[in-house]
Amino acid sequence: MRAVLVIGGTGAQGLPVVKSLSSSKYFAVRVLTRDAKSARAQEIARLPNVTLVEGRQDNQEDLHRAFQGVYGAWVNTDGFTLGEKNELFYGCRAYEIARHQGVKHYVYACADFALKHANWDEKYHWGHNDAKGRVAEYILAQGQEGMKSSILTTGPYMNMLWDGMFVPTQQPDGSFVWANPAKSGKIPLIALEDIGPYSLWLFDNPQKSAGMNLKVTTDEVSFADIATVFTEVTGKKGMHKYLPLDEYLPSVEPFPNAPANFAAGPNAVRDESTMTWRENFSAWWRYWGEGRAERRDMALLDRIHPGRIKTLGDWMRKVHYDGQPKNVLKGVEDLKRAAALMQKQEASVPV
Ligand SMILES: NC(=O)c1ccc[n+]([C@@H]2O[C@H](COP(=O)([O-])OP(=O)(O)OC[C@H]3O[C@@H](n4cnc5c(N)ncnc54)[C@H](OP(=O)(O)O)[C@@H]3O)[C@@H](O)[C@H]2O)c1
Repeated sequence: MRAVLVIGGTGAQGLPVVKSLSSSKYFAVRVLTRDAKSARAQEIARLPNVTLVEGRQDNQEDLHRAFQGVYGAWVNTDGFTLGEKNELFYGCRAYEIARHQGVKHYVYACADFALKHANWDEKYHWGHNDAKGRVAEYILAQGQEGMKSSILTTGPYMNMLWDGMFVPTQQPDGSFVWANPAKSGKIPLIALEDIGPYSLWLFDNPQKSAGMNLKVTTDEVSFADIATVFTEVTGKKGMHKYLPLDEYLPSVEPFPNAPANFAAGPNAVRDESTMTWRENFSAWWRYWGEGRAERRDMALLDRIHPGRIKTLGDWMRKVHYDGQPKNVLKGVEDLKRAAALMQKQEASVPV
């Protein structure tokens, strides 16, 4: 059985990939994780043909060990913890180490290269997308001799309607409001439920997928569309309210002057290159909210994955979306757990 290393396999995007590869019954899966005992790691370790390897994305020895002997790799580095500079370095190093280890097919999970797509206008530069965009260009520039490579580009997850900045606020009258700085731009949201089949297709069809940058979406929608579809599907009133960035940001910033990779804790690598959380997400909201995103090729997506979820309404019905929040990102889940533990410890200290 051919083995595929999945980096980021305990995460929101990687989980469905591990599940799809495992259920194919012809791929064994090796997942790199910092903690093999975490609930998510244990959940995937119970799937058929899935093994865990402990290690870090930002450690070259760990990467060598992880890539050794596998046929394929699916790599999603975590820009939110690595930061832009480290994601760029380790993104390139992971590819180079995979080549050294003789991997045959490398799938890189990318995000839209916003700065390039916005014609290098710095207003649209933010770290966790542009680092991935640069790495993808580096990977494709190496050609297809020796190792095949494919890029899987995703926009914001549709599932973020449960977690983070896309969650609506329920009003006292029972209605739901999305108050944010999005203008009328169409955002290419992707349902994570379809990431597995797209990834499996890339591995199953190397003659077609080698050198390809597959840019996926489920539906391209504005926030006004999201509110309208929500009302159609749930019967509950949904509304989008535009807030200028200056008004919006203070209510969502993790703490004043937080760095973009605040989730990595106080000892993470930081220097002049590190954007603040505000700079990072100002550019992020501008790009998506103004509708600057590159349009996806829906006909191609239909051919590759005929059973894909086709609309936001279909997704909402499938997952019984009701506007209430729910954990999606492992990083956010880990932060909440750490904060709850700290609170408990503080409460138990005698005064
Ligand atoms: N949220 C979105 O809408 C969206 C859309 C497109 C792309 N992305 C990109 O997806 C990436 C995050 O992945 P996700 O959405 O799946 O987030 P997530 O649910 O928070 O998962 C983060 C993953 O990264 C792993 N990880 C983090 N630091 C690591 C390290 N130093 N060494 C090894 N593993 C590490 C975690 O593994 P362990 O904790 O098990 O070690 C986990 O599997 C980001 O770069 C983000 O830009 C996000």
